[in-house]
Amino acid sequence: MRAVLVRSPGGPEALELAEVPDPEPGPGEVLLDVVAAGVNRADLMQREGRYPPPPGASGVLGLEVSGTVAALGEGVEDSTELRVGDAACALLAGGGYAERVVAPAGQVMPVPAGLDLVDAAALPEVAATVWSTVFMSAGLRPGEVLLVHGGASGVGTMAVQLARQAGAVVAVTAGSERKLRACADLGASVLVDYSRQDFVEEVRAATGGRGADVVLDVVGGPYLERNLQVLATGGRLVQVGMQGGRRGELDLGLMTSKRLSLLGATLRARPVDGPDGKAAICASVVEHVWPLVAEGTVRPVVSERVAVPRGTSAAAADAVRRAHADLEAGAHVGKVLLVWERSVA
Ligand SMILES: NC(=O)c1ccc[n+]([C@@H]2O[C@H](COP(=O)([O-])OP(=O)(O)OC[C@H]3O[C@@H](n4cnc5c(N)ncnc54)[C@H](OP(=O)(O)O)[C@@H]3O)[C@@H](O)[C@H]2O)c1
Repeated sequence: MRAVLVRSPGGPEALELAEVPDPEPGPGEVLLDVVAAGVNRADLMQREGRYPPPPGASGVLGLEVSGTVAALGEGVEDSTELRVGDAACALLAGGGYAERVVAPAGQVMPVPAGLDLVDAAALPEVAATVWSTVFMSAGLRPGEVLLVHGGASGVGTMAVQLARQAGAVVAVTAGSERKLRACADLGASVLVDYSRQDFVEEVRAATGGRGADVVLDVVGGPYLERNLQVLATGGRLVQVGMQGGRRGELDLGLMTSKRLSLLGATLRARPVDGPDGKAAICASVVEHVWPLVAEGTVRPVVSERVAVPRGTSAAAADAVRRAHADLEAGAHVGKVLLVWERSVA
């Protein structure tokens, strides 16, 4: 099969396509023929050598795919409803930029009814991230205010839609009017251009001085102080990214006086099993998020499908490099997908 490899850490030019042996499903694993793979910001960091795969994970990039079930490992037939030939999408610890991948059965999910198989690759990472943090951990409730930093990102576009469906009021930050308009179309009602506005002032003004009940943050250190300021009493800060840096100053006085909670989470390094494991998160996503996708009230936002031509030619490698360069450039709203050309009708 073809897989995308990083010969040595660097920019998009470090990405290469090579023929490698097919993976074999072990006990409890599922082999998928991959149709499309989501490109995540974490992949850019891994390519640069700043985000190594967790122990035991594939060294091939790629945290999510869609495709069809090619084979079931030992014991899977008894433990799930998955069958060979089924359309599926999967959350991965790695290995998704390849024509075939193995995943623990608990991380392989059906494709929501009516959804295009390519677009299904845009869902696992963002749905699992947002559902497990904003809803399972921070318990966002109807009528509460959620502030989403980077509202037009892959994660942000899912957070805005799920929070609206849950009856929350959604505030977002983004760096341009175009991105803010996209967030408004998805259901955000408080729009903050962080390049010229202060999100603490804007969210307070829009909420009668109360602030946000939950903040979903991807910026990190530089936003820590203002994130605590913008939270209402009883507020929860959910930290899932650190694009601006991992260190900041924590005002414990604010935390205690407003009874704030700081919740950090990462998906990739979690165990598969157990109450907080990835299989439990995927099961909860299928139960709560997939019906909203099937009825069309929540949708994957796909900015770009990058087709990877057949073979391991320079053109095929260039396509993968372009997908990374596009995500890095940051003009996208939602997700960028790689689509293996053999899979496109
Ligand atoms: N913890 C987890 O399990 C987990 C899982 C998935 C993703 N993540 C993290 O979530 C983040 C988003 O991932 P993604 O793949 O969805 O990335 P993405 O689509 O590339 O989006 C990155 C976003 O960050 C925004 N941003 C950058 N600086 C900002 C600032 N100062 N204020 C507000 N927004 C800012 C950008 O918006 P502008 O262009 O408007 O600046 C852009 O929309 C990443 O940090 C990623 O590592 C964490």
